[in-house]
Amino acid sequence: MHVLRVSAASVAFLTLQAAAQIGEYDSIYSDYDYCQGISPDSKTYKPIPGATLKKVQLFMRHGDRVPSMVFPGDDANYNLCGNFVESYFSGDELLSRTPTVQSKIMDPKDSPYHKLMWKGNCDVGQLTNRGKQQTYNVGKNIRSIYVDMLKFLPKFLNTDLIYVRNTYAIRTRESAEHMLNGLYPSFFRVPGSVIEMNAYPEAVENIILSRNLCPALPSLFKPFMSTPTFLNFFKSNYALMVKTNNILGIGNNPQYNNSLNGDFFISRLCNDLPLPCSRTNSTDCITPIEATKAIAGSWVMSYGPMRWGPQVEKVKRVSGGMFVGTIPKNIRATLKGDPSSRPFEFYSVHDQSIDQIMAIISTPNTPWPSYSSTLVFETAELADKSHVVRVIYEGKTVKAHPDLKCSLEACPLNTFAAFLENYVPADAQAECAV
Ligand SMILES: *[C@@H]1O[C@H](CO)[C@@H](O)[C@H](O)[C@H]1NC(C)=O
Ligand SMILES: *[C@@H]1O[C@H](CO)[C@@H](O)[C@H](O)[C@H]1NC(C)=O
Repeated sequence: MHVLRVSAASVAFLTLQAAAQIGEYDSIYSDYDYCQGISPDSKTYKPIPGATLKKVQLFMRHGDRVPSMVFPGDDANYNLCGNFVESYFSGDELLSRTPTVQSKIMDPKDSPYHKLMWKGNCDVGQLTNRGKQQTYNVGKNIRSIYVDMLKFLPKFLNTDLIYVRNTYAIRTRESAEHMLNGLYPSFFRVPGSVIEMNAYPEAVENIILSRNLCPALPSLFKPFMSTPTFLNFFKSNYALMVKTNNILGIGNNPQYNNSLNGDFFISRLCNDLPLPCSRTNSTDCITPIEATKAIAGSWVMSYGPMRWGPQVEKVKRVSGGMFVGTIPKNIRATLKGDPSSRPFEFYSVHDQSIDQIMAIISTPNTPWPSYSSTLVFETAELADKSHVVRVIYEGKTVKAHPDLKCSLEACPLNTFAAFLENYVPADAQAECAV
């Protein structure tokens, strides 16, 4: 397996500054694998002692996908999508006997722009067959806990108990469908029952990092690039960056050449495709270790500014802060018995969506959300009628950010809610003005 193995977090990890080793994860995540998220299941899950579960809010990253852009040097054959049985199979669950449609990405050989696209049957950023299976499996794992073990959700689908939201991207919508098929296979559904999947339009989507919502994002992120943390990282990865740039044919393209381009390597590593070699020297290839390093370092510009940048608090407000108020708001609605509220919420989102929530609630050294990674918020009622929140990421209880001043094994709801609400910008448009 292609485990992004990273050394155990330093024992001297006392303050945020001391932990400023990019790519070094807390040791609780030692089983982290970029290719495969870890979700809790009935074998690993432990109920909150002495408590009654009242609400579950699950965030899931979409499953395995192909790269989100086409590099000139990408000579791989991405034949990873469009399993021909897709329209009637989901995971290993038979949905109907006969497919009614079959989608196919064409290879337009007669187009003069033919070379702008890689080979294979996947469009840019498309969920692969592997990704479909992964998200279906998340649904099965979640069922094993909240249906079979806890009976928090009924055995047969009751659409009134479930709220689903996915982003506008096709891969998150498809991932949501597969997860729901794992959670409620057709045998456990009344024929004809329909789950509503809600999506914000792209222009106003607030669960991603959005320049639509916050035009100031680039200028808020930029000062991070002048910090010793980033400069050290850049220096120690420069040679690898140049090597990957040259192999990808983007050595002189300033739009892409400041990244380790890990997004390019992930699909190959996770799907056992050969790693690329230089077009002018066929023995000059990217090794698995280099590819792994490139992947581990590629999201620094996304997660760095909200953990180690000079404007950390401000950056968190205009990224994760745009959404996190929804979490306590919906918890309270359920506890109050608001009829429009649902006890089970499921958000099918992106890596960035999950990471920017993690940046707010967690100690900084958390691994980047893997494919089908999950983040779960559980709200439970104790014997004295007070409420606590537990948070589980990649199957582990999240280590709370020091400012949160509670344990995320059981954080008092009021403490938790006030902390998140503090990150909601009072006037986002003013904070985001350029
Ligand atoms: C990226 O391209 C620009 C423009 O050609 C060049 O000046 C710069 O050194 C390149 N950066 C890297 C890391 O290769
Ligand atoms: C080709 O790459 C190999 C491995 O990096 C290197 O040892 C060799 O010198 C290169 N050959 C040329 C002609 O540059």
